[in-house]
Amino acid sequence: MAEWWRGVPKLELHAHLNGSIRSSTLLELAKERSKKGDLVLSEVEGVILKDDRSLQECFKLFDLIHVLTTDHGTISRITKEVIEDFAAENVIYLELRTTPKKNEAVGMSKRSYVEAVLAGFKAVETVKAIHLPSDGNIQYPDEVTHKNSTSEGPRMQQIFVRLLLSIDRRESLDGAMETVQLALEMRNSGVVGIDLSGNPVVGEWQTFLPALTCARKQGLPITLHCGEVPNREEIQGMLEFRPERLGHVCCLEDLEWKTLKESDIPVEVCLTSNVRTECVTSIADHHFADLYRVKHPLILCTDDPGVFSTTISREYALAASCFDLTKTELFQLAKNAVNFIFADNKLKETLRLIMEEAECVFAGTK
Ligand code: IMP
Ligand code: ZN
Repeated sequence: MAEWWRGVPKLELHAHLNGSIRSSTLLELAKERSKKGDLVLSEVEGVILKDDRSLQECFKLFDLIHVLTTDHGTISRITKEVIEDFAAENVIYLELRTTPKKNEAVGMSKRSYVEAVLAGFKAVETVKAIHLPSDGNIQYPDEVTHKNSTSEGPRMQQIFVRLLLSIDRRESLDGAMETVQLALEMRNSGVVGIDLSGNPVVGEWQTFLPALTCARKQGLPITLHCGEVPNREEIQGMLEFRPERLGHVCCLEDLEWKTLKESDIPVEVCLTSNVRTECVTSIADHHFADLYRVKHPLILCTDDPGVFSTTISREYALAASCFDLTKTELFQLAKNAVNFIFADNKLKETLRLIMEEAECVFAGTK
């Protein structure tokens, strides 16, 4: 089934850059560092190769990943690989998110971090990555147009890529403000929104409200990680804030479910992630079933395909088998994701056309 779903064009709206890193790249980076004497390979191998991680173990792994991906070159490399991996799953639109980081030791500022990510967009080789803003007109950079030359063979597969900047719950308000400012300044380079993520038991989301409100006032869409742990005040505050999208929403109580359903805020559903991190007890008990039944807007996503050893095709196959959905029903869900992207309407139209064409193919009429 995952193989079948791989052939279907899909959108990915909730994937963290460092959580999408290939295990092979992570091991390679760890080996390089151990040769330099920076770390002991045997001590980190277990952390990298462990399969069933609790939520808190995931954040330990993220800390290790961040130690291994500190320099600009590595950030560009992993970005390029992540885009190529999503394209290999037939993702036609990827909204990648990442937390801009400072590292004075290697001369990295939040801005240079984001520039390194955008350099990774441009370095993609196996597919045509369309990463520039589409403010009315999708622009094709020279090098991509050149690579796409049809005289040399068939058209290259293409993937539209946009970036969300994440605020980490460990940050201060100043840090969050800096990220929002950066996102506003880099809007013309493909940044389309703001995310709030990080260890849900660390910090308080209200700390970031002024930064989120500032982003909102400037028209930047916002998605919040919500309800990964039961935190009544926070969940209710986030629902009241009414972000453009919400991630996870696992630990809600009856009244909160009611508020969510009335709000129509699209939910980014990450099945494997939620089960692995024990935010839900099993896929069978996942709130996807209830939200799908009441036709709440939903998007299937991976969260951290590297960390959770999954793919977006696998998540579709999982949803199909666990919730007994037909290919047609699930294709409709994939197609609806177009309505919830943070990029502009012109790109939405383009994606709709691609999905409609695919619908004909998968319905057997073409
Ligand atoms: P990065 O922002 O590219 O470094 O991706 C990794 C980061 O994403 C982590 O350090 C967390 O801040 C965030 N993240 C990834 N997965 C989760 C999750 O399941 N819950 C909350 N935050 C997450
Ligand atoms: Zn996430």
